[in-house]
Amino acid sequence: MKPVTLSTLQTCRSANEPFSCLTAYDASFARLASSAGIEVLLVGDSLGMVLQGHDSTLPVTLEDIRYHTQCVARGKESSLLMVDLPFMSNSSTEQLLQDAGVLMRAGAEMIKIEGEAWLADGIRELSRRGVPVCAHMGLTPQSVHQFGGYRVQGRDQQQAKQIIADACTLVDAGASVILLECVPASLGQAVHEAVEVPVIGIGAGPDVDGQILVMHDVLGVTPGRVPRFAKNFLADSGDVASAFRRYHEDVKTRRFPATEHSF
Ligand code: KIV
Ligand code: NA
Repeated sequence: MKPVTLSTLQTCRSANEPFSCLTAYDASFARLASSAGIEVLLVGDSLGMVLQGHDSTLPVTLEDIRYHTQCVARGKESSLLMVDLPFMSNSSTEQLLQDAGVLMRAGAEMIKIEGEAWLADGIRELSRRGVPVCAHMGLTPQSVHQFGGYRVQGRDQQQAKQIIADACTLVDAGASVILLECVPASLGQAVHEAVEVPVIGIGAGPDVDGQILVMHDVLGVTPGRVPRFAKNFLADSGDVASAFRRYHEDVKTRRFPATEHSF
């Protein structure tokens, strides 16, 4: 298969054809996810929770993410490899550039950063240096202690307006993709309409350009409570490869997410 690039995602958006994304942390699962046709693999700092057993993503280090990025890069086929910057990589633009450099050298093809309009300068500097950026907005898990829990964001009008405005600011600064986590479906659609870049959603409703899930949720092995937006695709699939294919097909045909997965 042809390598998936940023322009593939842009083409999907223009053609109104949803694309699928999944987290990956090692070579074997990355290979299966890739061969299932999943367009984007994310080495997420969710690895702190699903691999390391922490109750947040805050303890994850740059070195942890670098290690898993190398593993996924070796196993994946044509999927685009997106990688998270860990908590506090955004403490300064200099730090951001340095940490992004480490991950790009490890095999990342796009860097994801949590934040809002204040990230514009950092995103501008990254994109000037050839690093494609995905801006993660809405429920940003690195801010869990400020939110007071993992809660739906952008429920009130003013907050929703702010998220739309900030998404536009970050795209103007050079963000190539926006990722929205846990926002009302109406806000997912509004952001999709407000920006021209691909918008990936997790718990952001069906009216965005791509969907992403955590691999452990797709396979039903997540420890503890499973979020409303997640779906176990292994339950009716028989094996992991079929579960990944089913997820990919359900995104492509808009069978997923359904109303019960949205806010
Ligand atoms: O770390 C992660 O897995 C993520 C996704 C939930 C978007 O950021
Ligand atoms: Na993350």
